Amino acid sequence: MSKKSTGPFRKIEHVGIAVRDLDEAVSRYEQMMGAVCYKRETVESEGVETAFFYTGESKIELLASTRNDSPVARFLEKRGEGVHHLAFEVDDIHKEMERCRKLGFTLLSESPKPGADSKLVAFLHPKEHHGVLIELCQAAHSS
Ligand code: CO
Repeated sequence: MSKKSTGPFRKIEHVGIAVRDLDEAVSRYEQMMGAVCYKRETVESEGVETAFFYTGESKIELLASTRNDSPVARFLEKRGEGVHHLAFEVDDIHKEMERCRKLGFTLLSESPKPGADSKLVAFLHPKEHHGVLIELCQAAHSS
């Protein structure tokens, strides 16, 4: 077995998928994945309602907008439904934000924010990595 080399991004924690109708999407993904949604959670500050599924060590996060001016609403308007972000798990989100900032990547917030699923989260603007919005996330209790 060859030794795997990994950087500070430990794994893909989840893939975020923007949907218009969360109830409809949850039942569709439950069918398709053969798994049950284990959590639904609204993050009012972001104007988003989320639903989570486990897939091995990673998760799928369905995202629907709770108001017309939320980031997810703007995404749906511009790009329609589909993959919205990739979330990488990190051990120290402050350190990773600083590392990325020093390299010239654009952070969408000055400091980590409370996200869904008991995480601290921060986002990197998609323009600098080929159109993909990147989320850094750290388990909130270990910060
Ligand atoms: Co996410």
